Amino acid sequence: SNIKIEVVKNKEEGGKVAYRLIKEAMEEGAEVFGLATGSTPEMLYKELRESDLDFSDKIAVNLDEYIGLEADHPQSYEHFMKEQLFNDKPFKETHIPDGLATEEDENERYDEILEKNPIDVQILGIGTNAHIGFNEPGTPFDTKTHKIKLTEDTIQANKRYFESEDEVPDYAYSMGIASIMAAKKIILMAYGKNKAEAIEKTVNGPVSEDVPASILQKHPDVVIIVDEEAASQL
Ligand code: GLP
Repeated sequence: SNIKIEVVKNKEEGGKVAYRLIKEAMEEGAEVFGLATGSTPEMLYKELRESDLDFSDKIAVNLDEYIGLEADHPQSYEHFMKEQLFNDKPFKETHIPDGLATEEDENERYDEILEKNPIDVQILGIGTNAHIGFNEPGTPFDTKTHKIKLTEDTIQANKRYFESEDEVPDYAYSMGIASIMAAKKIILMAYGKNKAEAIEKTVNGPVSEDVPASILQKHPDVVIIVDEEAASQL
């Protein structure tokens, strides 16, 4: 496949590698950035916050949002993005699914945003079950923005941020796999032993809807940044 693997020492170094790729893409004219949440991209956002890169004429389009949380809920992805990046680095426009909108309205609204703003660089983390965005295993590869029922795996993995498991939303809106694959360049980061199996299947396994990230084997420009633990099964 076309996937390029960069093994780094740790998250800090991974953040720097991803930062450099973003900087290069900007020098080549990238204007629309597909952004991700989770602990994985935090060091990248720190690099961006502390950089002198100017995003005031750039556009950010985020992957996903929990359904049912107010935008200012401390665990909403909108809140996360403000804290991690947007408060310090203003963009011309930032887009994120609206977790309080109805499914019908939101799918259409977000697909229009994506059509109008083709993504130049997409940042991705990965779930332990190889989900990307919130596209859980079994999601058809041709999906656009849609509502997803989170798997038990994902709820367990994400509950650490909430006061109790009951508070983790059961549903989310996510950009679909087709929308992610439409990005010109994709940078996926993964750190730690619990991502090793997902990375192995993503890179070497058959391309299968059971392993959402495996579709990246079919994308022409993917860089996967991993630490040694996440690379340990490659
Ligand atoms: C969530 C997000 C994903 C993210 C994943 C992994 O499910 N929707 O975009 O990649 O968590 O999170 P972390 O980076 O904290 O391991």
